[in-house]
Amino acid sequence: MDSVAHVKHVYVSSLHTHVGEQVVLKGWVYNKRDSKGLAFIELRDGSGLVQCVVSEAEVDQDVWTSSQLLTQETSLTVTGTVAEDERQIGGVEVQVAGLEIVGMSEDYPITPKEHGVDFLMNNRHLWLRSRRQWAIMRIRNQVIMSIHNLFQEQGFVQMDAPVLTGNAVEGTSTLFEMDYFDEKAYLTQSGQLYGEAMAMAMGKIYTFGPTFRAEKSKTRRHLTEFWMIEPEMAFYDLDMNMDLAEDLIVRIVSDVLKNCSVELDVLERDREPLERVTKGFPRISYTEAVDLLRSDKTAGMFDKMENDLADEEKALNEELSENKSRYGQAKKWEKRKFDAREIEITKRLSDIEEDRRNLPNWKQSATEFEWGGDFGGSDETVLTWHFDKPIIVHRFPADIKAFYMKRDESDDRLALGIDVLAPEGYGEIVGGGERATDIDFLMRQVRDHNLPAEVFQWYFDLRRFGSVPHSGFGIGLERTITWICKLPHLREAIPFPRLMGRLNP
Ligand code: 4AD
Ligand code: MG
Repeated sequence: MDSVAHVKHVYVSSLHTHVGEQVVLKGWVYNKRDSKGLAFIELRDGSGLVQCVVSEAEVDQDVWTSSQLLTQETSLTVTGTVAEDERQIGGVEVQVAGLEIVGMSEDYPITPKEHGVDFLMNNRHLWLRSRRQWAIMRIRNQVIMSIHNLFQEQGFVQMDAPVLTGNAVEGTSTLFEMDYFDEKAYLTQSGQLYGEAMAMAMGKIYTFGPTFRAEKSKTRRHLTEFWMIEPEMAFYDLDMNMDLAEDLIVRIVSDVLKNCSVELDVLERDREPLERVTKGFPRISYTEAVDLLRSDKTAGMFDKMENDLADEEKALNEELSENKSRYGQAKKWEKRKFDAREIEITKRLSDIEEDRRNLPNWKQSATEFEWGGDFGGSDETVLTWHFDKPIIVHRFPADIKAFYMKRDESDDRLALGIDVLAPEGYGEIVGGGERATDIDFLMRQVRDHNLPAEVFQWYFDLRRFGSVPHSGFGIGLERTITWICKLPHLREAIPFPRLMGRLNP
């Protein structure tokens, strides 16, 4: 078609502003369906998805022939007219006049049928093209923008902390060690110490970079490489620090609600819990949190949950056997419905079984929790059940916190640390606190934590030359996205996850 040259290339996301016009789309076949004389192509171009209709009666023979060659993920250029159609995603469809194949795709491994997680992870480079991953990655993009915007609007200076470092920050058990020209070096666990130096130069800063922890356990909350954003502010006390963490989280969630409506729909994310993320997060001390874990209220919640799961399990099993008894006489389309439902039910039953296996351990861990211990993942989950917003836990036993934390003046056993726990069972997304300023105390801490004093001399200098009260925190990007998207595991919250046992692709 020689007219193609004059027609404008547009992105799917802007099609609603081109109704009635001829446009060119460039993208990939997401899905294709044929019915007599018609081909329905679901075209994706990264900005969105649109249905393109090819009618054998209305196009040149070569266009029709090309349309018959299209397979999943073949790349193509389409010329056509944009028509309003309320039944379609985005409210439009494209009536195709011209079509050119750019690159064929043969035997694309990820088909619309169900795949196991390992298979999908091995094909992560392709899995990213699927609609659900598309939605998550776009929400990730929004979260990143919201973080930059909030800090920039408030006069923070973005700084990059080094990735290679001689200092351990968050304990020595999760360090990736390497040889640095015969010196010992580590991949950074946190940019905080460098952030403190920069805060003394700039007032308020934030880092935005990759951080590394050699986590030797496989959990749904741990990556070995993750992105952390660490604000650090001179002259901020613990309360100001908590206010900032709250403002940041409220901003992120409200921006996602406002700007990522399509993405949340794709994920079938329930909006209501996100809409409750407004200012005024409950703030409870570690000691209060321990009391809550040990309370009758917590025990009651477990009992109720175990009963609810048992009821659900019973109902699902009844539905299964009912469907089985009707299967013989069912029509073909009904059989397909029963088959699909069976897959759903089986999956849910296996989740229920897992929960029912775990709950007794979780219950024991929570209700017998001893003051002084660190909350495990399940304890955090239990704490979030008591609230319908994120909560801030503050003032932890100093023994379970990092060396740099300031002590509580009214109780020396306590460190001025904070954790923000995300609701709906997600748990910690932020860790931070007020920093110790007393140089003698810090030197003792470094010694007591068996850290090498030589590499901390520069850090002590920050207390030698114009030391001021200061605070900061780190927010985990993937943990935050996992919660906002309500994902079962944080491996889907980062393009190419690094986990124990997973370095490729
Ligand atoms: O609580 P953490 O260890 O705090 C620090 O690193 C401080 N130096 C931050 C500061 O005060 N500047 O880690 C902060 C956050 C956690 O709350 C969590 O969201 C995330 O980083 N995080 C991880 N995310 C994914 N995988 C892991 N293995 C993570 N470890 C921590
Ligand atoms: Mg922490």
